[in-house]
Amino acid sequence: MPPAPIAPAERTKNIKYAVRDVLALADEAKARGLDLLHLNIGDPNIYGFSPPAAVAEAAIRAIHDNLNGYAPSDGTTAALSAIREDAEARGVKAIQHIAITSGCSEAIEIALSALVNAGDRVLVPAPGYPLYTAILAKLDAVAVPYHLDEANDWQPDVEEITGLLAAPAKALVLINPNNPTGSVTPREVLEQIVAACKATGTVLFADEIYDQLVLSGEAPPPIGSIDAEVPVVTFNGLSKAYVAPGWRIGWGIVSGPKEVVGEWCEAMAKMERARLSANHPLQHAIPVALQQKHPEIEAMRDALRIRGRLISDRLNAIPGITSVAPKGAFYAFPSINLGVDDCTFCAKVIQETGAIIVPGSGFGQKQGTEHFRVVFLPNEDILSRACDGIAAIAAHFQSQGA
Ligand SMILES: Cc1ncc(COP(=O)(O)O)c(C=O)c1O
Repeated sequence: MPPAPIAPAERTKNIKYAVRDVLALADEAKARGLDLLHLNIGDPNIYGFSPPAAVAEAAIRAIHDNLNGYAPSDGTTAALSAIREDAEARGVKAIQHIAITSGCSEAIEIALSALVNAGDRVLVPAPGYPLYTAILAKLDAVAVPYHLDEANDWQPDVEEITGLLAAPAKALVLINPNNPTGSVTPREVLEQIVAACKATGTVLFADEIYDQLVLSGEAPPPIGSIDAEVPVVTFNGLSKAYVAPGWRIGWGIVSGPKEVVGEWCEAMAKMERARLSANHPLQHAIPVALQQKHPEIEAMRDALRIRGRLISDRLNAIPGITSVAPKGAFYAFPSINLGVDDCTFCAKVIQETGAIIVPGSGFGQKQGTEHFRVVFLPNEDILSRACDGIAAIAAHFQSQGA
């Protein structure tokens, strides 16, 4: 008898990752001879950026010095102190626990897994980074979307959040600057959200992995600096501004009253011990990353300012497409009003022009709206050619609709 196919667990059925799902279409386009333009992955390395020299040197030195064994489960002493000092210097109050993890992704997974039970509600931004909903699906918890308002620079609607928090929620996720919209939420809105969480005993998940990539306007404060009485877990790491996503080095910082967060921190610490440690030698790059100035990061911000403006100007000039100007990170999330859905539009752009863009539904979008996400890390020539392709496909759908 032939072996029966193995049925995957039900919990995997709702896990989607649009950023990589488009690659099958791209492979097909490449096989047909098209030159691919990657506007799909938030990895600065593939666009000519590289880690600050001093940070890379510290990592290499650690390997040569044979710091290649396991690290303590929460991280090396020097790296933990550097993270604490940096956070405290930026005003984060009442830090109770820090853990260095395999990318900021693992910190998010540990913090959620140690907090939510099956059926618990967690508020997530829509649009937002899809890892949160993927982990919540795995935990059989309920991801409750709160919407970012495109007409208001993609800001959260505090009234909607307050309404959603009327029913108990374990946590609220805030990504600032946001992926995929490139929006930056200012202090006054953060203060209102922190107050809403305080009033309802909701934990704030502050994903600040793009905090050094604010491209215009005032940099917002860390959410953990706003009110020491509110439990916050702040995520950050070396993946974006330090251009080292492949190192898989991130961290989570839990702050808030000890008597409130203590047991949760202990549950996280148990999970950290169970998986032994994060990558050890590369943790030795953390103090250098956080304690020195890196001109490479300033240069990256300068390049991104130009590229963000270019993508926004070019997309807004296309009939049927409007794009809120991004203020941070390296993403824009234009809307399509062309009588087609986002997946059809993106598939045609990829198949016919080789420009890889990702459908907005992969990040959560308001019903009845259609978007796509572009990464504006590529140089001006690539962005410009991608916009030519997007414009041609938009014109095609416009002529069909007419
Ligand atoms: C908002 C956000 N959070 C977390 C991550 C994951 O970061 P890491 O590569 O450090 O796991 C990403 C990666 O794109 C992201 O955009």
